[in-house]
Amino acid sequence: MANAKIKSLYVCSECGYETAKWYGKCPSCGEWNTLNEELRETTKVSSALQQHRQKPSAIPLAISEISTEDEQRYYTGFRELDRVLGGGIVKGSLVLLGGDPGIGKSTILLQICQHLGKLLKILYISGEESKRQIKLRATRLGVDSSNIFVMTETDIEVIADRMQSENPDLVMIDSIQTMNNHQLSSSPGSVTQVRECTNILMRTSKMLDIPCIVVGHVNKDGAIAGPKVLEHIVDAVLYFEGDKQMSYRILRAVKNRYGSTNEIGVFRMCDNGLSEVENPSLMLLSGRPKNVSGTCVACTMEGSRPILAEIQGLVTNSGYGNARRMSTGFDYNRMSMLLAVLEKRCGYFFSSLDAYINVIGGLRLDEPATDLAVALALVSSLKDIVVSEDIIAFGEVGLTGEIRSVNHAALRATEAARLGFRRCILPYHNLKGLTLPPDCELELIGVRTIRDAVAALGG
Ligand SMILES: Nc1ncnc2c1ncn2[C@@H]1O[C@H](COP(=O)(O)OP(=O)(O)OP(=O)(O)O)[C@@H](O)[C@H]1O
Ligand SMILES: [Mg+2]
Ligand SMILES: [Zn+2]
Repeated sequence: MANAKIKSLYVCSECGYETAKWYGKCPSCGEWNTLNEELRETTKVSSALQQHRQKPSAIPLAISEISTEDEQRYYTGFRELDRVLGGGIVKGSLVLLGGDPGIGKSTILLQICQHLGKLLKILYISGEESKRQIKLRATRLGVDSSNIFVMTETDIEVIADRMQSENPDLVMIDSIQTMNNHQLSSSPGSVTQVRECTNILMRTSKMLDIPCIVVGHVNKDGAIAGPKVLEHIVDAVLYFEGDKQMSYRILRAVKNRYGSTNEIGVFRMCDNGLSEVENPSLMLLSGRPKNVSGTCVACTMEGSRPILAEIQGLVTNSGYGNARRMSTGFDYNRMSMLLAVLEKRCGYFFSSLDAYINVIGGLRLDEPATDLAVALALVSSLKDIVVSEDIIAFGEVGLTGEIRSVNHAALRATEAARLGFRRCILPYHNLKGLTLPPDCELELIGVRTIRDAVAALGG
């Protein structure tokens, strides 16, 4: 190209910030030593514009005339995954699947292949593993469809060409960090490479109307390695989470152009791959200790679905000068606030005590409706009062110690009743207009303040 010239740029490997000058600290995200030099070919805007003008997409169309009828979705065989995607994989969409090493990203891709391979032609491209390795895993998972074609390739342009010539119905890329565009001088995995490769994939999959699932590794902070900008390019971003020690995995959508982002999918990792957990509450509550203090069950909404989770609290004498606070699965600052409210409004003193909160099952509760159960677990441990095993609690705790109403109270209570709970401590203001199914034998205990809630425990 006549207008092309080579330009040197500094790009932040954390946030993708670009600058012509080197800094020790990234002006955008504040990380140190993350600016790396990259060479970039720049084209004058005018020539790119020239090409664009001829395209049909450059002609405006009345929104009423745009047809949505051809939005086709493929069901993956995992109802949990379909729900997170908003009802299956949309044709022509680009889905980014992120997660820690070894969490099961390649496994789920192969299992999707097996299900969809019955009907569709699938191109599975790996830049990480040899064909033999992939075959070994496939055998272990029982993946044997003859419609799955495996390619070990890292050159993104070759891949784009193959997508065109093979015309598959679905493409899997494992992983985006191994892909590279040889026209760029930077190494695979760098921000520029990852972004360019994603752009090429996006263009190709939109042009050919082929859906594409792309694996992305996460960095130490848990974000998809490289740039946040990647998340802007793709249609949906899913994160695969969970404790590697524990067998279950949670799939969460953090962005979805085709559905809600509140839904989660729950899976269990077994020898023969991932299987769905259709009743997560039951799984999360299994093995719950009986007749001990320091545990309370909460109900949190994950999208449209109520999920019950056990919250454990431990309050002990502090061995050291300053008391320790630790919280797993619940916001640390929120916990400190609850401790302060309990101290100020109920007269429970925690200042010389260590306090721990743990949400069982690696679940992350980020809904204020779980406040009440956390507070009760702490009080239960402090005072050694057993929260009876048939009690469930939900409600937001305010700074004056009031219990504020929450949404979806009926859904939460019904789910608790379904799992055998008999008593439900909930915000008083939620009682009005709350109707439960006729066969639901749940005693509703409406409380106005945190004091009332503790009293309701009957300890
Ligand atoms: N032979 C085996 N038998 C049973 N389970 C296995 C076996 N090999 C691997 N696994 C399980 O599969 C998991 C690895 O899954 P997978 O390779 O899909 O992860 P990944 O997210 O693709 O990892 P990476 O980021 O390294 O590519 C392991 O953590 C382990 O639980
Ligand atoms: Mg893998
Ligand atoms: Zn930065």
